[in-house]
Amino acid sequence: MVRKIFFTSATVVLLAVGLTAVWWPSALWLLVLVGPVILLGLHDVIQRKHALLRIYPGIGHGRNLMEEVRPEMQQYFVESDIDGTPFSREFRSIIYQRSKGDLDTRAFGTQRDVNHIGYEWMQHSLAPLPVADSEPRVSVGGATCTRPYAASHLNISAMSFGSLSRTAILALNEGARIGGFAHNTGEGGLSRYHLEPGGDLTWQICTGYFGCRDDDGHFDPDRFEERSHTITLR
Ligand SMILES: Cc1cc2nc3c(=O)[nH]c(=O)nc-3n(C[C@H](O)[C@H](O)[C@H](O)COP(=O)(O)O)c2cc1C
Repeated sequence: MVRKIFFTSATVVLLAVGLTAVWWPSALWLLVLVGPVILLGLHDVIQRKHALLRIYPGIGHGRNLMEEVRPEMQQYFVESDIDGTPFSREFRSIIYQRSKGDLDTRAFGTQRDVNHIGYEWMQHSLAPLPVADSEPRVSVGGATCTRPYAASHLNISAMSFGSLSRTAILALNEGARIGGFAHNTGEGGLSRYHLEPGGDLTWQICTGYFGCRDDDGHFDPDRFEERSHTITLR
């Protein structure tokens, strides 16, 4: 239907311009305006890559344009101050303000709906409980496990060596050693910096099998076993 409308209008416009030009030759300048649109529509109908453009010649590009400006529209008109991931507009504004050295203080109060079901916060207790002598731990490994592990509730989440640095990995693992929790290697594999400080480690193995793959990139159980022995848990 849209194709028919397009071709009919193109023909009518071309005829109108052609006829007008017989008496008033300057009318041909109108082709500068309508010509590219007609050529674009013809190209859309002939091309075989995008079904949408074949069905909606010319106007189909409007969708692509909308897709392009969608994030900006979303950000400027739809998104609220506390929406947006990974950082809300509220946090982003503070980051911009601080990076420019502008005033970044905010009045007391929050824009969040603190009465909303599911809203979470932490607050100090007026009657704090005494700190337990032993920290609560989760036992990992069933009855048949020869090396059960008492895991801390809070640990260091996975961040690969490649995404951080030697110094960061050394510091994180040293922190794990001092704090008595585990440090997740991230999927980039087990580096010597993970092992150096002696903190507990969780070796994350993902689809790349880094550190335990054979030359063809498949999981290598022997390398896995050999490398696992380099990790000593307390
Ligand atoms: C630099 C960096 C590297 C990361 N690398 C990994 C990774 O290798 N494997 C993984 O599962 N998650 C990875 N993550 C995700 C984190 O483990 C964590 O899930 C994420 O940062 C959200 O937790 P957070 O809110 O405590 O930061 C990485 C995150 C960062 C910032």
